[in-house]
Amino acid sequence: MCGIIGIVGKEAVSDRLVDGLKRMEYRGYDSAGVCTVHGGQLVRRRAEGKLANLVQVLKSDDAPGNIGIAHTRWATHGAPTTSNAHPHATQEVALVHNGIIENFKQLRDELTARGRTFESETDTEVVAHLVSEQVEAGLAPADAVKAVLPRLRGAFALAIAFRQFPDFLIGARLGSPLVVGYGDGETYLGSDALALAPLTQKIAYLDEGDWVIVTREGAQIYDKDNNPVTREITTSGVSAAAIEKGNYRHYMQKEIFEQPTVVAQTLSSYIRPLEQTVALPQMDFDLAGVKRITIVACGTSYYAGMVAKYWFETFARVPVDIDVASEFRYRDPVLEEGGLALFISQSGETADTLAALRHCKEQGQTIAVVVNVPTSSMAREADLLLPTHAGPEIGVASTKAFTCQLAVLAALAAHLALVKGKLSAEQEREIVRHLIEAPAALNAALAHDEDIAAMAHLIAPARDVLYLGRGPDYPLAMEGALKLKEISYIHAEGYASGEMKHGPIALIDEAVPVIVLAPSGPLFEKTVSNMQEVRARGGKVVLISDAEGIEEAGEGCLATIEMPSVHPLIAPLVYAVPVQLLAYHVACAKGTDVDQPRNLAKSVTVE
Ligand code: F6R
Repeated sequence: MCGIIGIVGKEAVSDRLVDGLKRMEYRGYDSAGVCTVHGGQLVRRRAEGKLANLVQVLKSDDAPGNIGIAHTRWATHGAPTTSNAHPHATQEVALVHNGIIENFKQLRDELTARGRTFESETDTEVVAHLVSEQVEAGLAPADAVKAVLPRLRGAFALAIAFRQFPDFLIGARLGSPLVVGYGDGETYLGSDALALAPLTQKIAYLDEGDWVIVTREGAQIYDKDNNPVTREITTSGVSAAAIEKGNYRHYMQKEIFEQPTVVAQTLSSYIRPLEQTVALPQMDFDLAGVKRITIVACGTSYYAGMVAKYWFETFARVPVDIDVASEFRYRDPVLEEGGLALFISQSGETADTLAALRHCKEQGQTIAVVVNVPTSSMAREADLLLPTHAGPEIGVASTKAFTCQLAVLAALAAHLALVKGKLSAEQEREIVRHLIEAPAALNAALAHDEDIAAMAHLIAPARDVLYLGRGPDYPLAMEGALKLKEISYIHAEGYASGEMKHGPIALIDEAVPVIVLAPSGPLFEKTVSNMQEVRARGGKVVLISDAEGIEEAGEGCLATIEMPSVHPLIAPLVYAVPVQLLAYHVACAKGTDVDQPRNLAKSVTVE
């Protein structure tokens, strides 16, 4: 959610800044801008809309200079216009910001009363003015920043350039991520290692409250109390190649097709295939003593948590509470002593989830995280880190991260059941055998890509679509609806199929396709009864099931999508594929921007 980058370089930076923004466009694409320091001036170029617009601006009006900052925006305060685009600047100072300055109104009133005028509606511009005031009063840039940081409430990652100082940038972070990259005679700032991937793999992650002076020779980091500190320099595993689109039309499509590989990759860290046992990392707390689990996440990660609730309760008989992160803290949850709080996140930076994690930490909960970015804030603040190995997920709609989350959560549920004495060694072997089958089953599900593409035109004209499922397929129904609405802009809802007759069935008519997720198994008959209730009212049903299910209930459906026959444990992983592909092909049929759907951004670092 907004991406920032800064380069203190040996040679011209503007192309490389734009290249870094390209890698972060998934964080927001409402506007983009760069500012370099050159010839004693701040040279600023900005454009509303996609990065391509900024590239056009720079073609006719370059920003020369060997030092600069840049930004790609997801709008919070103020419309996505050029005047609201970052960098925001005064005569002396230019800066880019990811996050929200919550007390900006008060600061703005104060600055206005002192005669300062604003050219944007953003919260960010107040920071530029506050720092500028100090510099204009004669303070050195570092002292100016030091004076201003304690005045800011909310979340920020900042990169600041100074007109009179072409040899350094200053960065700061609180609540939003910021990394320092170390190059050869150059140093960088970035929202993540991905942005800096082609420039360097030597990365230091700033801690909460840190600020940093970045020069060509390196970086001096200070903690929140202004003490000089060192932060470990790690080698980032992100290669520039991992974030290419390859032969695929969209990142989302590539990521859907990567699932067999990345799920296998993820599972290999959590099971021993030869012994057919689960293999969780060492835990320095008593997992067997956990009496209750609180799961907190947002969006697609939340739906993975909902599936996991079934597993934790069925296998380990441990009660689970689950909340969306934005609601969790504000309902003042009762957290049992010795409880385990489990956070699920692709990015590991989602502001609501991170805030919930910190709340649980304060309440003495043991913190476990399932994250795809092992260097993220959540990963670094956890007692137990359970990484997914999905690789960088660039498409805004989450796909491969979801199935990898499910793989980790299934292994964790089995492990918990084992240590709780609820699972025999034979049952453990059986679970592992089913998990091992998941990558092949995902491949078999992907083989139906063309059939799904061929039927997308049946859904594309709809204004509303309903998804139904029971048990672990209920969260899948919600995930399917979320995927469809976010990339095709068709209104879609997921319901527990038994809940239809309590209200939503009133929506059924010929114009509302109903997608039914019903793998063969203990819940099949009941789901099919609900499906028949829909059909009896003229509803057009798309049934997603296996050959047996389609044979039994497929007749008279608008369409059927056949999945491989799988054990109910891995059905949620496998049934994720058709709902992802359906959303993808419907979006393609409608011609929407699949990888950068309107109004959205990946890595939601504001509350
Ligand atoms: C939907 C989607 C979002 C994310 C949500 C949480 O396709 O991608 O709903 O799942 O914003 O993000 P993470 O998992 O990074 O915490």
